[in-house]
Amino acid sequence: MTTTVREMTDSEFGIVIDYFFKSTPEHLETLGVDPTRLPTPDSWRERFQRDRARPIEQRASLVVIWLGDNQPLGFSTSDKIAYGEQANMHLHVVDPERRNRGYGAECVRQSADIYFERLKLKRLFCEPNAFNVAPNRTLQKAGFKYLKTHMTVPGPLNFHQAVTRWVMERQACGRKN
Ligand SMILES: CC(C)(COP(=O)(O)OP(=O)(O)OC[C@H]1O[C@@H](n2cnc3c(N)ncnc32)[C@H](O)[C@@H]1OP(=O)(O)O)[C@@H](O)C(=O)NCCC(=O)NCCS
Repeated sequence: MTTTVREMTDSEFGIVIDYFFKSTPEHLETLGVDPTRLPTPDSWRERFQRDRARPIEQRASLVVIWLGDNQPLGFSTSDKIAYGEQANMHLHVVDPERRNRGYGAECVRQSADIYFERLKLKRLFCEPNAFNVAPNRTLQKAGFKYLKTHMTVPGPLNFHQAVTRWVMERQACGRKN
């Protein structure tokens, strides 16, 4: 299967909303997501569209879709963006049956290329739940370096938890900008 990654369009954002709202409580727990903190679908979609209409330098987030043979496979979001400096990324293969087959690591590399290029980043962070093995292994495979494990609330959808902090520096990224 050929994987491609590109910026998500407005009409594709339902993939993100469905993913979180259709996740089991157990899966959300693995992700470190508090279901009571999810925005309503309408407000979430509206926020995404409003943000996408802003110049890239002023974006609060950048979302990319992962495609396998041109069909949706997963997505990555980036937030905590300091344009020209740094951002944080997240990673998801939507269908559990398609996880652990090598697509995630490849799509993370391609997503990182887009974030470095579009946001002119010097460094890109990711902070998965420390007990969630798949993203931790995937980030290492994709070229991220381990920094530390610590307790924090990593984002607005999350509860307080142990996370591992990973970083990719610009020179380690495939596309140098
Ligand atoms: C995290 C995720 C995107 C990784 O994508 P993926 O396609 O499953 O990962 P890959 O198949 O490319 O595997 C990459 C590495 O992780 C390892 N890995 C993947 N899933 C694993 C699992 N469940 N347990 C142990 N190792 C796992 C693979 O063995 C591989 O490492 P190796 O080649 O060094 O052995 C995907 O598993 C996923 O969507 N999980 C649910 C969502 C999630 O937890 N997101 C993280 C939120 S921050």
